[in-house]
Amino acid sequence: MKQFAKTLLILAMASPLASLANVDSALIAKGKAKATACGACHGADGNSAIATWPKLAGQNAKYLLKQLNAFKQGAKGPRNNAIMAGQVASLSEQDLKAVSAYYASLKMSEGKTAKQYVKLGQALYRGGDLKDKIPACAACHGPQGKGNAEAGFPAIAGQWADYSIAQLKAYRDGSRSTGVMMSAIAKNMSDKQMTAVAHYIAGLH
Ligand code: HEC
Ligand code: HEC
Repeated sequence: MKQFAKTLLILAMASPLASLANVDSALIAKGKAKATACGACHGADGNSAIATWPKLAGQNAKYLLKQLNAFKQGAKGPRNNAIMAGQVASLSEQDLKAVSAYYASLKMSEGKTAKQYVKLGQALYRGGDLKDKIPACAACHGPQGKGNAEAGFPAIAGQWADYSIAQLKAYRDGSRSTGVMMSAIAKNMSDKQMTAVAHYIAGLH
């Protein structure tokens, strides 16, 4: 009897889980098919070869979907980028969900931190700067820069420094307004601090 109850329990738990896994792999497969053109810039495996084009591999799907919808709003939206607006114009919400799931399923490649940025970059990342009112990046992006998938906080470890610097500047000058927290933080950062911390996170893993 006990064994029978256990079997029932396993069956009851396994079937919805199994179908969930199928939905996921179907979504990822659909996303892969939709992402063929994206690979030209973001890399065939989601790791771009050029430092001004972001790596997308391993980024959490919640964050990716939010950014894709922001690009889709075009020049009046919170993330005005002509290249990306064109890329997503013909994609439906379902397509955007699928490509987000696809990139989230890949693995981000690691980068390196040039020596001269380690000291200041690490200090800011781990401890922030009390005098300049900069909170520790690790508080939200995690001790290893992996972000927080449930909250939609992006992974930033391994990302190209040039891309991260450009984004920090865009938050600061208001041209990117997808994140109130990041806008407030970037306004307190100097170019020197942005450069050091961006190079530090590029080599974080
Ligand atoms: C011609 C090159 C090019 C192509 C093709 C391209 N992208 Fe992009 N993508 C960019 C650039 C450049 C940026 C950075 C934009 C910025 O500075 O805000 C970007 C940014 C992004 C971001 C934001 C990443 C982040 O960390 O916030 C996502 C997500 C993205 N692209 C997804 C896609 C998808 C999905 C496709 C295909 C449907 C695609 N891209 C096709 C060049 C490209
Ligand atoms: C209070 C939480 C919080 C703290 C602290 C924080 N961030 Fe962020 N960060 C976020 C969120 C949320 C986003 C995504 C916002 C959006 O949708 O644009 C983000 C986005 C970013 C991005 C853009 C990622 C991309 O792929 O485009 C960079 C770069 C970044 N943060 C760097 C930093 C650095 C460097 C620090 C420390 C000086 C820091 N963050 C501190 C929450 C935080």
